[in-house]
Amino acid sequence: MSKKAWGGRFQEESISWVEEFNASIHFDKVLIEEDINGSIAHANMLAAQNIISEDENSQIKSGLLSILDDYNNDKLTFSVSQEDIHMNVEAKLIEKIGAAGGKLHTARSRNDQVATDMHLYVKKEVKAVINSVELLQETIIGLAEKHLDIIMPGYTHLQRAQPILFSHHILTYFWMLERDKSRFNDSLKRIDVSPLGAGAISGTTFNIDRFQTKDELGFEGIYHNSMDAVSDRDYIVETLSNISLTMVHLSRLSEELIFWTTDEANFVTLSDAFTTGSSMMPQKKNPDMAELIRGKSGRTAGHLMSMLMLLKGLPLTYNKDMQEDKEGLFDSLTTIKGSLKIMNGMLGTLTINEEVLEEAVTEDFSNATELADYLVAKGIPFRDSHEIVGKLVLTCINNGIYLKDMSLNEFKAASDVIEEDIYDILSPKVVVNRRISYGSTGTESVKQQLEVAKNHL
Ligand code: ARG
Repeated sequence: MSKKAWGGRFQEESISWVEEFNASIHFDKVLIEEDINGSIAHANMLAAQNIISEDENSQIKSGLLSILDDYNNDKLTFSVSQEDIHMNVEAKLIEKIGAAGGKLHTARSRNDQVATDMHLYVKKEVKAVINSVELLQETIIGLAEKHLDIIMPGYTHLQRAQPILFSHHILTYFWMLERDKSRFNDSLKRIDVSPLGAGAISGTTFNIDRFQTKDELGFEGIYHNSMDAVSDRDYIVETLSNISLTMVHLSRLSEELIFWTTDEANFVTLSDAFTTGSSMMPQKKNPDMAELIRGKSGRTAGHLMSMLMLLKGLPLTYNKDMQEDKEGLFDSLTTIKGSLKIMNGMLGTLTINEEVLEEAVTEDFSNATELADYLVAKGIPFRDSHEIVGKLVLTCINNGIYLKDMSLNEFKAASDVIEEDIYDILSPKVVVNRRISYGSTGTESVKQQLEVAKNHL
């Protein structure tokens, strides 16, 4: 059992399985780089303020850097009895450089230290997530540009509604991701804030310079209240929430891919690399990656709930409950980065089954609104035209045909304003391209939309 940094007032030995329960080193070791950078900035400031000497500072710095080096070369071993990354690093430092190492924790507590590490870490990770979101957006734009002429059924209630451009459909996800990105970017203002120097709760009697450490660590802002600095976990809730919503978007897209790849729809085919087979049924090609993303979105929502529940009863300031803020967050970050990468790969390699889509939009009633609008243009009130077309659809269903298959006489029997030009109007391409309103699915509108989307990147 190694010596505890807080051992002075304790008389009994610790129990190893209690230490095991208390420890966070298994998961907070990923903070080592942030921990060491935070400590170096703190020591530099202590030296600049004449709280430690320059010589002590340089011993501390080289000691910390060699610890990081050992870690990167897999030469560092952590000890559970040193509880967490902060005390493991400090114990190693004292082991390496002796007395000067014991001065590093002057005017600092693990409470502001862990908060500093976490702010730095979350900032780095959120930026990486934003980057992956952007890569996926680029793939979506590429897909939309490449397939600008493909028409597919658009659905409401999962019933065929109106024909749309595939590009229009897929670009919807571009905009969802654009909002996700803007939420992550906005959250950076609240993540990028320095708690260092808040001490355990109330600040410190030493003449420290919190602005120096803030600047050296590259923080944009600073906590103005030491108690807020050590107890704030809002930025973690916010990050988990932003991750959860992005995962929900990826899950919706996954669900579409799963539907599109069924034998029943067969609209797209996923590349072999992003699917798996069955151990029993030789014919199977399962969309496992899409299903996993859909499944994992439940997990990230769970981590958000855990964090909210963790915080709701906590009095100010630090409580050990807060150690539980890490695993869920780390897991959510790993999950979202993985899911974004997989989704990007899946979209980048899928094949669109153009003939199937063409047949799907020709052999259905998704042009019925068009016929109703045609009658309206000829002066018939919309409610009447809706009724007329509804009856025509029913006749078609009873005869096993579609609107395009009706003779002009049959049309005229329903409404004598219908002329030969109706057959043109009913073709999916015309249906789509007659949509000219801003943001609509007409090819010209979608081209315009693509330009706006590209400007957002
Ligand atoms: N491992 C702890 C955590 O992650 C560090 C802070 C401990 N502070 C304390 N007062 N015990 O929350």
